[in-house]
Amino acid sequence: MNYLLKNLNVFHQNAFRKADILISDGIVAAMGSGLFVGGDAAVFDFKGAAALPGLIDPHVHLREPGFAYKETIRAGTLAAAHGGYTAVCAMPNLKPVPDTLEHLNVQLNIISRDAAVTVAPYGSITRGEGGGELSDMAALAPYVAGFSDDGRGVQSEALMRRAMETAKSLGKPIVAHAEDESLLQKGWAVHDGAYARAHGLTGNDPESEWRQVERDLELVRETGCAYHVCHVSTKETVGLVRLAKFEGLDVTCETGPHYLTLTDEDLQDDGRFRMNPPIRSEADRDALIEGLCDGTVDMIATDHAPHAKEEKSGGLARSLNGIVGLECAFPVLYTKLVRGRITSLERLVELMSIAPARRFGLPGGRIQPGERANLAIFDLEHEFTIDSSKFLSLGRSTPFDGWRVYGRCLMTVADGSIVWRDDHD
Ligand code: DOR
Repeated sequence: MNYLLKNLNVFHQNAFRKADILISDGIVAAMGSGLFVGGDAAVFDFKGAAALPGLIDPHVHLREPGFAYKETIRAGTLAAAHGGYTAVCAMPNLKPVPDTLEHLNVQLNIISRDAAVTVAPYGSITRGEGGGELSDMAALAPYVAGFSDDGRGVQSEALMRRAMETAKSLGKPIVAHAEDESLLQKGWAVHDGAYARAHGLTGNDPESEWRQVERDLELVRETGCAYHVCHVSTKETVGLVRLAKFEGLDVTCETGPHYLTLTDEDLQDDGRFRMNPPIRSEADRDALIEGLCDGTVDMIATDHAPHAKEEKSGGLARSLNGIVGLECAFPVLYTKLVRGRITSLERLVELMSIAPARRFGLPGGRIQPGERANLAIFDLEHEFTIDSSKFLSLGRSTPFDGWRVYGRCLMTVADGSIVWRDDHD
C-alpha cells in the first residue's frame, strides 16, 4: 500500500522543512515538495501540519498479562497511537512477572497478536519483583529493553550491585524505580509538603526517592552499568543526576508531564491526582524544568498507569497510585513548554522521541527516506479540551482532564502502518 502525505512541516535532521512524504510498503520512499503518485495511493492533505518522528514512551504499564480489567495491550497501544506514539516500553509489574523466558513469552505472545505500535518489554530485575533474588536476566536479555522492578525499589544494595554487574555484562540498562521503603511512612497519599499538612494526609518524603538514587549512583561507579532513573520527581535527584553525568557515568533519566506542569498546590481530592512518586513542590517542579533545559533530564515518560474506575474513586487518601498519560502528554507539554516558551519544539521532539529511541535501541526517532515510517502528524494550531471520556485507554484518570491545549494528533504511522487517523474534518 502507498500513502502520500501532502503539505507537511517535516522534522528532519533537527529542523523543520515543508515537504510531502511518500510511504511505500511501510518505507519512507520519498520526501520532498510536490510529490505525486498514480495508481492505488491514498492521498492525505495535511495543510501545513507538523510531521514529527513518532513519539516514544520509555515507561508505560499495559497491564497484560494479569490485569486486563485495568488495561490491555490492544487498548493501551491504541491509546499510544492516538497520542502520537509509535513505540512504548512496557513495565513488568504483571502476572506472571516477566522474570523467566517462559513468563516473558506469555507477554510477547499477546504483544505479537494485539499491539498496534511497537512494544518493547522490560524484564524484571528480581524474581516476581519480590526483591529477594535476581530474575533470569541472561535468558531475558535478548528480548527486553532493559531491566526494571518498576512499582518498587530494589531495597537490597547487595542485590542491586549484582543486578548491575549482570546487566552490564549483558549490555542492558537498569531502569530504576528508586524508592527507599525505610524512608516512607505507611499510608502516604501525597507529597510531604504544604498540601499534606493542610489536609491531614500522610506525606511521601522526597528523600525516599533521592537517597536510593544516591545509593545506586555509587553502584554505577563501581560496576559501570548503564543506569536510567524512572519518573524523577525531586530537585535532589536532578542534582544527583547532573553531577553523575558531569562525572561521565552512563546515566540517563526521565520525568513525567505531571511533574513538569503541576505542584502540590494544584492537588484536588481526587484519584486523578494520585500517583507514585507524588506531584511535589514548586521548587521540585522548577528544578525539573531547569534539568530539562540544561540536558540533565533526558526524556519525558508518561508512566501511563491505568486502573479501574473503582480503584481511582477513593479520592487522594484511598485511590491506587497511577494516572494515564499517553493520550494527552504531547498536547500538554507542547502547550506548556513550547507555547509557554520554556523550550523549543525541537527539544521536545528530542525528549519525547529521539532520546528514548537512542537509549533503548528502539525503532524510530527520525523520519528518514529508506527507513520504515514511524511518525506522528500534529495540528499545532488546533486548540481543544482534553476529554478523558474519549480516550481509547481503559483508564480515564488524568489530572489534565478539562485542560485547554494545543496540538491535535491527526495521524500516527507506526512501523509503516496507519494506526491512528483523526477523521474529525
Ligand atoms: O503511580 C504509579 N503507578 N507508580 C508506579 O510506580 C507504579 C504504577 C502502577 O503500576 O500502577
